[in-house]
Amino acid sequence: MTIEQPTQAALDEEMRMMVAPRNPGHVPPSDAAFGQTAATAPQYQLRAHPEPPPVPNGWYAICGSVDVASGQVRSVIAVERELVVFRDADGVAHVLDAHCPHNGAHLGGGEVVDGAVRCPYHGWRFDGSGQCVEVPYSDARIPAKACIPSYPVREQDGFILFWFHAQGAPPAFEVPPTEEVGHPDWSEPYEFRFELVAALQEMGENNVDYAHLCYVHGRESVPNDTSVFTTEGPFSTVVETLPDGGAFTRHAWGPGVALLRVPGITTVLTTTTPIDRRHCRLHWHFLFPKAMEGIANDIILGFTGTFGLQADVPIWRDKVYVERPILVKADGNIAEFRRWYAQFYE
Ligand code: FES
Ligand SMILES: [Fe+2]
Repeated sequence: MTIEQPTQAALDEEMRMMVAPRNPGHVPPSDAAFGQTAATAPQYQLRAHPEPPPVPNGWYAICGSVDVASGQVRSVIAVERELVVFRDADGVAHVLDAHCPHNGAHLGGGEVVDGAVRCPYHGWRFDGSGQCVEVPYSDARIPAKACIPSYPVREQDGFILFWFHAQGAPPAFEVPPTEEVGHPDWSEPYEFRFELVAALQEMGENNVDYAHLCYVHGRESVPNDTSVFTTEGPFSTVVETLPDGGAFTRHAWGPGVALLRVPGITTVLTTTTPIDRRHCRLHWHFLFPKAMEGIANDIILGFTGTFGLQADVPIWRDKVYVERPILVKADGNIAEFRRWYAQFYE
């Protein structure tokens, strides 16, 4: 189920501004210089800021299950790479680097033939492990090097997840299934998708940054001692007591997948996929107890609209990455978050 965003036109325009390519040849109108930031003034050469950290190791969504049909191949840019995702004849999803080892063509322009993706340039075919299985115009043995890097895939709860590791190591953990998905008491997923300028780590850190709730999200005061952050290996949990006495829980399954539960209101399975160090792609599934479906769109807007996600967007877009922020005692969870997060980097 796809929701109608009432402010979609405005969001689209905002998105267009935010993800405009950093093209030195792009010259905006001259009176646009005021109020610009480095992120929106790509023609200026400013002093370089520290780069945000590289892509952390973990499970990321390459797309939703519904986005790739059986026998289909699609191109996706993620984790600073060009990738393809395809389903073989049995409907099993695979993720490969996009460029053909024969002579560099992009496999996204190919098709799936007999369960293997066929390069559009000379017809070499590659199976889900990335191994070349056919060079159609040659009788010689298939060269041993005719192999494309592939990524472990898990398809669960409506997402095609792939495992990224900077050194190619196998998965270090699994993402637990979400019990609400497919449960008769719960709705079908309502989708939310968004691309934005933000470093992945900084989006995660936002969840334990309680002071900003007051200044960015309109909370009356800085919440004090209302949030608990705990970790267990690659998993972390934030439990936050809300002003009305309710509580929400956010489980992070590594850096790219999280599960948010607001009891009686909604459960949100959120995937955040780094496109590069400065851009992320969000793909969230909101699930509702059947009784709440009537106000589903209002709840979604509460999370994603002006007082939710949209309030963070300009902060992330314009901020610089600070390796050693000056933290005071009340910022304590940020330091703990960073200690936990360090395990996902080499
Ligand atoms: S470049 Fe792919 S088959 Fe030649
Ligand atoms: Fe926020």
